[in-house]
Parts: sequence; structure tokens; C-alpha cells
Amino acid sequence: MAAGETAWTTYWHANRLDSCIVRPGQQDDDQKAIFDFWRTFVSGTPDGGQILDLATGNGAVALRLVEAAVELGQDISVKAVDLADIRPEIFLKEYGDLIRLIEFEGQVDICDLPFSDQSFDGVVSQFGFEYAPPVSAVAELARVLKPSGTFQLLVHHKSGALVAPNVAQVNEIDTLLQAGGLVDCIQGLLAGTVRMEQLEAEGRRLLQLYDNQLPRITAEIFAAVRQLLTRQDLDLIVRAEGATDMRRRLEAEQERMRQLGDAALAENDAADLRQIMAEAGLRDVSYEPFHVGADQALLGWQFAGRR
Ligand SMILES: C[S@@+](CC[C@H](N)C(=O)[O-])C[C@H]1O[C@@H](n2cnc3c(N)ncnc32)[C@H](O)[C@@H]1O
Repeated sequence: MAAGETAWTTYWHANRLDSCIVRPGQQDDDQKAIFDFWRTFVSGTPDGGQILDLATGNGAVALRLVEAAVELGQDISVKAVDLADIRPEIFLKEYGDLIRLIEFEGQVDICDLPFSDQSFDGVVSQFGFEYAPPVSAVAELARVLKPSGTFQLLVHHKSGALVAPNVAQVNEIDTLLQAGGLVDCIQGLLAGTVRMEQLEAEGRRLLQLYDNQLPRITAEIFAAVRQLLTRQDLDLIVRAEGATDMRRRLEAEQERMRQLGDAALAENDAADLRQIMAEAGLRDVSYEPFHVGADQALLGWQFAGRR
């Protein structure tokens, strides 16, 4: 599996529903706006219709589609695919009942879909479509849509509220992983090659670097280290494994953030994507910024159209 897929597989196996769509402190407003966005799509899908969710992750959109259909008294079925080795039915236990209504398939590239031509009434994607090469992904979207079938996508916006904070974490993780940095200190401490004073000195250096306000991941690591060190019941091997796992998770997180920054569309990229869709024969293609919350924050681009 390539590094990118591994990063997402690690992420989705950690029991998460959404990837990055909720702004801290704005959870309810953002969730409502997003639910309404997908609910509107369901209400325009014919009863008995089948919808395909591309790059589904752990099925955040697929779940919203099913919930909306139940609310609207509509009968729809949902298929959901992702390149990562997703297993929402195993890892997302709390949504078990709804998840069973969706057919998930992992290790599926949206540029090479295992479905016959004209098989879906609707195709959707949320912060996933833009991760794939656009010409092939659009060609596949157009191929699997039934005539007059519709599509709706939410994609990352380069200036959107989600992109900058996530991309900033790439640098934060670089600092944590640098030679002699916090993660090295923790591993060394557990291996007996680094003294506690060196770890404390690294802590002071980071506090100074961040003006006494440790950013989220760094603060979480300090909390985890405190816990790891106080667990005298754990033998040294288990504690050392904990530190190695920390490095692996940070590398995966950094890879995900890098991909997000690369995938996000600026105005000209959005115009190009629209053009690619029109050239693939998709009709009535529109795109516009998608805003959420009382502060009308820019969250992404919304694309819509039909075959
Ligand atoms: C930001 S997550 C979005 C997941 C989900 N739609 C959500 O809103 O929570 C991006 C997803 O795109 C998937 N992905 C990236 N490239 C892909 C491709 N070529 N084919 C299928 N999935 C892909 C990744 O594995 C990841 O799960």
C-alpha cells in the first residue's frame, strides 16, 4: 500500500466519522449546514434510487444520505467506496445500525470504479473527489451515472477555514519529528539513552518556540508522555512500542495534512475542474463557494450537475 493510502487506513481504523470538516466550537452549526446540503441532494433523487459516495472514508456522507432518506420517507440505497482499506462496520460501532444500510468497499480507486456504465442515479463526494487526478475521476463519475443522473460534490477550497489550520500542522509535526526533537527524546528516554533533563529541556524549548502556548498535537504528546511515564505497571518494551507507534501516527497525520493542502482548489483550479466536467459530457455544471455557520465561514466549493 502507498504511504497516502496507509495514512488514511490508519486514520479510519482509529474510529472516526468525519475527517476534518468541523471547526472547533462550531460543531452544531457546521454539521447542520452540511446535513442540509446532503439532504437536499437526497430529496432530488428518485425514490428507489441508488447513490454512490466516492472517497467515503468512514462513511460520513453515506450516513447522512441514509439518515436524510429515513427523515424524508424515501427509499434509497447507498454504495460507498474509498482507496483506503476502510472497515466502518468494524471500527465505527456506535453507528452500527445505520452503517449496515450502506454497502462499503475499500481499496477502490475512484479513477477505476468496479461498476458498470450508467448504474447510479446520483454520485456524491465530500472532501474526497479532489484527491484523485481530475480527468480520470471525472470520466469515471460520468460513466457510472445514469442518463439525467445527478452529482453533487463538496471539495476543499484553498482559502477555506479547514485548510490553513490543517496545513499548519505539517510544520508542527516536522518540529516534533526533527532529529533530537521531542519524539527522539521520548524514544531515547524509554530506551535509557536520554535523561529526563534532556526531555525537560526540549519541553522548555518548545514552550519558548510557541510563546508558552503549545499547539494541539504537541500538547497532546506531552499529556501522553506524562501518562506513559507514570504507568510503572507497563514493562519497558510496551512503553517503547508506545513511542514507536507515536512516530508512526505522526508521520501518517503529516502525510494526510500534506495531501489536503495539495488537493484544495483555488479559484482557477475550480474553473478548470468545471471545464473538465463539461468536456466529459456532464451538463448544467455549476460551482460556487460553500459557506457555513452564523459567521458564514468559507468551508469549500460545491459542485453540481447532471449527465
Ligand atoms: C478528507 S478524506 C474524506 C473522507 C470522507 N468523504 C469524509 O468526508 O469524511 C479523503 C479520502 O479520500 C480518499 N481517496 C484519496 N484518493 C482516492 C482515490 N483515488 N480513490 C478513492 N479514494 C481516494 C482517502 O483515502 C480518504 O479517505
